[in-house]
Amino acid sequence: MKILGIESSCDETAAAVVEDGVRMLSNEISSQVDIHARYGGVVPEVASRQHLLAIIPVIEQAMDKALTDWHELDAIAVTHGPGLAGSLLVGVSVAKSIAYARGIRLIGINHLEGHMYANWLAETSPKFPLLCLIVSGGHTDLIHMRQHGDYTMMGHTLDDAAGEAFDKAARILGLGYPGGPAIDNASQKGKPCLALPYSWMSGAHNFSFSGIKSALYRMVEENKIDNINDAAASFQQAVVSILVSKTIAAATECGARQILLSGGVASNRLLRKCLCQDSPMPVLIPPPVLCTDNAAMIAACGYFRLHAGVTSGIDIDVIPGLQLAK
Ligand code: KG4
Ligand code: ZN
Repeated sequence: MKILGIESSCDETAAAVVEDGVRMLSNEISSQVDIHARYGGVVPEVASRQHLLAIIPVIEQAMDKALTDWHELDAIAVTHGPGLAGSLLVGVSVAKSIAYARGIRLIGINHLEGHMYANWLAETSPKFPLLCLIVSGGHTDLIHMRQHGDYTMMGHTLDDAAGEAFDKAARILGLGYPGGPAIDNASQKGKPCLALPYSWMSGAHNFSFSGIKSALYRMVEENKIDNINDAAASFQQAVVSILVSKTIAAATECGARQILLSGGVASNRLLRKCLCQDSPMPVLIPPPVLCTDNAAMIAACGYFRLHAGVTSGIDIDVIPGLQLAK
């Protein structure tokens, strides 16, 4: 079964063809990162205009690279939330138009569910029940997954998402945008020697990162930072320690057989290393290109939704605040 995935929830325009939910035939991504870098963050209006320019060529490339003709497609899976309304609208409108014109089934996908399904594109298939840590620019969620489509949220961030905290810390340290990779790179040259406050919030699976960020800001304001690389490494160490220990605690509590990592922050080298080192159960992590936004994960998720009998009508709308689980 071949599914075309389309993703345009933030600042990447992406299309991919995936076979049987696990084999990636193509994975095309047009990134707007250089355009938004000069503003220090994603400008929603600029993002939707760029999606408009890129979406058709990106879909054509994905179909060409997959050596797939339109009549071979079994469905089109498209992200319809959460994300920026104007950006989501571009992908959803194009997906609807193709589905209608070609008579192909349409499936609206939750972007966060898509991130988890990046793990199904790896060599080893995930085993249920599992615990997935989704760490992206907008979310930090601990999801207990018993089966396909059966989710319980065990914890989430009470303030900044992990990726957002990385982006803000990089701005505070003058490391530029996007902040996550900048902090990751600077940390390689530094030592985690600064004492930053860790918000453990013991007894709960929730996260809070704004205190660490504020402490870093105060240190910069008070000229207490001599070495930017040490500051980056200290910030990264604090965020990663909390993510790793809370994920392992939640996975142990819910009896997970495996831990899955997903979302843009899952590309972080220290997080990947520490989670694999400390976890008592196997850890699956997609390659970095499938951690950040892509459409292969949307197509993979679409396959399992289709198997569960889920399709969407041509009247499907964007839902910028779409949630995954309560
Ligand atoms: O999943 P994603 O591509 O987009 C959203 O759905 O938000 O995640 C983007 C986030 C950004 O905040 C970015 O700074 C962060 O992922 N990120 C990283 C790394 N690469 C991307 N954070 C830490 N270390 C990285 N290597
Ligand atoms: Zn994402």
